[in-house]
Amino acid sequence: MSPLPENTLIGMCNPLLDIQTTVEKAFLDKWGLKENDAILCDDKHNDMFTELTRDFKVEYIPGGAAQNSLRVAQWILNAPNRTVFFGAVGKDQYGDLLASKAKEAGVNVHYQINETVKTGTCAALINGTHRSLCAHLAAANTFTQDHLQKEENQKIIEQAKYFYVTGFFITVCPPAILQLASHSAEFNKTFTLNLSAPFISQFFFDKLSEIIPLVDVLFGNEDEAAAFAKANGWETTCVKEIALKAAALPKKSTKPRLVVFTQGPEPVIVVEGDKVTEFPVTRLPKEEIVDTNGAGDAFVGGFLSQFIQGKGVEASVTCGSYAAQEIIKKHGCTVPSVCKYH
Ligand code: AP5
Ligand code: NA
Repeated sequence: MSPLPENTLIGMCNPLLDIQTTVEKAFLDKWGLKENDAILCDDKHNDMFTELTRDFKVEYIPGGAAQNSLRVAQWILNAPNRTVFFGAVGKDQYGDLLASKAKEAGVNVHYQINETVKTGTCAALINGTHRSLCAHLAAANTFTQDHLQKEENQKIIEQAKYFYVTGFFITVCPPAILQLASHSAEFNKTFTLNLSAPFISQFFFDKLSEIIPLVDVLFGNEDEAAAFAKANGWETTCVKEIALKAAALPKKSTKPRLVVFTQGPEPVIVVEGDKVTEFPVTRLPKEEIVDTNGAGDAFVGGFLSQFIQGKGVEASVTCGSYAAQEIIKKHGCTVPSVCKYH
């Protein structure tokens, strides 16, 4: 058993059931989707979900970015309930399925349950080695800050030492994010945030900017880094330079900010304070790649599984890459039954 106390890491995000299938480029064009993107759906996509479940062979896979990461972290930690998850679902079959899959993985799920809105879904449309995500948040979008005020959740928040929130959650409940981030800063804990998708920097930059001063660890991939740079008015697309600038943004506590940017098979860029390190990635042979869906989430899960044990950045990145590769070798963000990581 891991000596790590229970409820060390709290994750907060949208719990979504992924509806995954393979589509042609023409299908993406028809619904106005890009090959490699993550967006929120609007009313014009309702018929797309109908078409998908009617005409395609779809797989239902537990998803939602932070929940994926926590499932992966639990898989590596191999001791239940070291991580807790907050997010909102409906009172329905999909919500029950998400809860059972998360619990099975060892995540201590504390959903806010909305009796009148359906559990959120995410179309994960695979096209070759690309994937296009179109999230229908539904119940996930109804999360309210009072869920955090519940006595049982207050206790968990006091116990926790690390927090992981996705940029995706900025579209849902910024006050809840600020509450956890402020608590973290006040008690000298560690608050981590993922940029999640370019649209967050493009369309929710004001809210994102309010949270950044409280962020101790910032995750993202190269596209998200570029969108963040653009929103900040930085005229560079160099991932290292963006990471340095992000690390140097104003910060509430004196702890130096850590920035971790992944770039697929290219090296992981890490900035600690003003020091840049590149961690090379062992490229997977093409025949071993099933789909990269969830690679970024798995990387974060692996990274955090070590980081919350007080292991250093190098050990955390190594485990992040290991976890990402295991997920790339399988459909969706799913892990093999046994974890061989030591
Ligand atoms: P998705 O965005 O697919 O997952 P991801 O984990 O972010 O995967 P990406 O493929 O985007 O990876 P990345 O670009 O972040 O990482 P990178 O390629 O740099 O999201 C999946 C989930 O998002 C779904 O479950 C869905 O439910 C959820 N979601 C969507 N919208 C949402 C919303 N609004 N709210 C909540 N959830 C939402 O790779 C990372 C690492 O992988 C690399 O550093 C490396 O170590 C490794 N790696 C990558 N490629 C290779 C390679 N070729 N060989 C070896 N290692 C590799
Ligand atoms: Na991503």
